[in-house]
Amino acid sequence: MTLLRAENLHRAYPLPGGRSLRAVDGIDLTLRRGETLAIVGESGCGKSTLGRLLLRLEEADEGRILLDGTDLRGLRGAALRDMRRRVQVVFQDPYGSLNPRERIRDALVRPMLLHRLCDRAEAERRAGALMERVGLSPAQLDRLPHQFSGGQRQRIAIARALSVGPELIVCDEPVSALDVSVQAQVVNLLQDLQHEDGLALVFISHDLAVVRHLAHHVAVIYAGRVVEAGTAETLFADPRHPYTRALLEAAPRTDTGPRAHAALAGEPPNPAAPPPGCRFAARCPAAQAVCREEPQPPLREIAATHRAACHFAEALPPFILLDAAPPAATPLAARIGAYRAARNRADAGDAA
Ligand SMILES: Nc1ncnc2c1ncn2[C@@H]1O[C@H](COP(=O)(O)OP(=O)(O)O)[C@@H](O)[C@H]1O
Ligand SMILES: [Mg+2]
Repeated sequence: MTLLRAENLHRAYPLPGGRSLRAVDGIDLTLRRGETLAIVGESGCGKSTLGRLLLRLEEADEGRILLDGTDLRGLRGAALRDMRRRVQVVFQDPYGSLNPRERIRDALVRPMLLHRLCDRAEAERRAGALMERVGLSPAQLDRLPHQFSGGQRQRIAIARALSVGPELIVCDEPVSALDVSVQAQVVNLLQDLQHEDGLALVFISHDLAVVRHLAHHVAVIYAGRVVEAGTAETLFADPRHPYTRALLEAAPRTDTGPRAHAALAGEPPNPAAPPPGCRFAARCPAAQAVCREEPQPPLREIAATHRAACHFAEALPPFILLDAAPPAATPLAARIGAYRAARNRADAGDAA
């Protein structure tokens, strides 16, 4: 069942001289209850802006966002507060959201009181239980944020998001600032919580390898637009947009080793002055004259669960990663994959 739908979202920031920077330039998304939608693209392509629009931390200039079929634009008062409870956020840097002078106890208790979910005694009890759920100890409740490691702070941010019983958590690069060894732990925690609570996740990342085993659906965005979208399976097995292919090729294959391919060459276009044709044409190995001359093609259905915005999507040769170790074998992705396989076996055991 659809939990979240975004239709034709636009967000531009005014620049001096009457120009504007189109950070999000016509994006559609759908997320089903209990699933993970990954939003992937290079730095500056509009991911965080999109996240803020979905959270209503910022208003879209155009387009609408439906939560369970209700248009978020119309919400005021109690209905808006309830929407803010149902949709929570975890940012890359919990220092940005955890007050450095506030004890963890208060950071966890306050949202529950704010949303009038329970009284203080009950909120304190729940705070202890939340610490345990995210793998920390209730005995640490009286500490301050700086007394925790980066991974632990991210667990606290997740606990705080959970405290109010959300249906969706928007995670904006939640593991990008963490050591690789810690990244998998935090990703695994999110997967466990999703599994237990039926949580839906929007998982924003610049790294396709990280989302591979986490996401049910993936939207690849480039210069403010979705260029390819589909189930994780289809998109990784048969990427149909040259940008998705370039991201896969540029992904590091090992934690420390050199990249097998040169990082994606060049830069995304200036969002204040995008080129008239396909926005990826200048960097695209498959580009033809039509790509520079015609406007960027809209997303087109390639298969039932797969859309791509490329003139040549169907014509591209099969995608083969020219490397002994595909991204699935990176230690992080492998660990997450092994974890998911083990969990699925456990589920099968439960069902038997
Ligand atoms: N508040 C803002 N004012 C002006 N420009 C912004 C603002 N926020 C983001 N941008 C610009 O919008 C574009 C997209 O940014 P962002 O959404 O942060 O991308 P990402 O999260 O993918 O790195 C960038 O060019 C960025 O400089
Ligand atoms: Mg960002």
